[in-house]
Amino acid sequence: MKIIYEGKAKRLYPTDNPLEVLMEFKDDATAFNGKKKAVFDNKGRINKQITLLLYQFLEKAGVQTHFVRDHDETKMIVQRVDIIPIEFVVRNVVAGSLSKRIGLEEGAALTRPIVEYYYKNDDLGDPMIAPDHIRALNLATDDELERIRDEALTINRLLTGFFRDAGLRLVDFKVEFGRRHPDLQDIVLADEISPDTCRIWDLETNEILDKDRFRRDLGQVMESYQRIWERISGHAAHC
Ligand code: TMP
Ligand code: ASP
Repeated sequence: MKIIYEGKAKRLYPTDNPLEVLMEFKDDATAFNGKKKAVFDNKGRINKQITLLLYQFLEKAGVQTHFVRDHDETKMIVQRVDIIPIEFVVRNVVAGSLSKRIGLEEGAALTRPIVEYYYKNDDLGDPMIAPDHIRALNLATDDELERIRDEALTINRLLTGFFRDAGLRLVDFKVEFGRRHPDLQDIVLADEISPDTCRIWDLETNEILDKDRFRRDLGQVMESYQRIWERISGHAAHC
């Protein structure tokens, strides 16, 4: 099958409908801008299931996403979008690069969520950027940026509650947005929401259950992803 785009963890294929593409979740995992690599059997399947469940939950709550319909074990049909090359990171608890940047201990709760912007550019190593840089690079208008920031905070509020009810702590996560074809006017949530792109800890014990298990060589990567899946699918079945 012809590939439209291949990233580190996903592939896109054309469909008969020019406004829709097939998004495949790969078993490949990378960290540190691709410097560390591994393949985990079943990761694509679990991440697709988790993204699907979270997209369906968010859509029900009024968040517009590029999701169209499920396809098979590792693929879903999504609307064709032009991805805005900004990674929006929302944080509820200090962890990862924030801990290094501002010197607060990992695990410290934030009194209100922090939103950060990273320029999606592998050659530059995805640097953090400020709204003035977004303007200088013409990535989004002030109005678009404000609307996307508000949407990212809404998604955070919804997902934090959803994970909490499933016995999990949403520490932080990364989301991406895209301009929907054909007119590129609507901006919608795109890409994936999975343990690859979120930090998720056990609510009681703070045990790490996300991709940090791979980044930090903690072992039991897929077992932890599976535990997240079991908790959230069990919770979703009751709501
Ligand atoms: P960070 O603490 O390393 O900046 O990561 C913040 C969040 O963003 C964390 O949930 C992991 C996610 N993330 C990605 O999804 N892709 C990336 O390339 C990076 C660096 C982080
Ligand atoms: N996915 C990113 C990469 O490989 C980094 C990460 O998630 O830590 O560069």
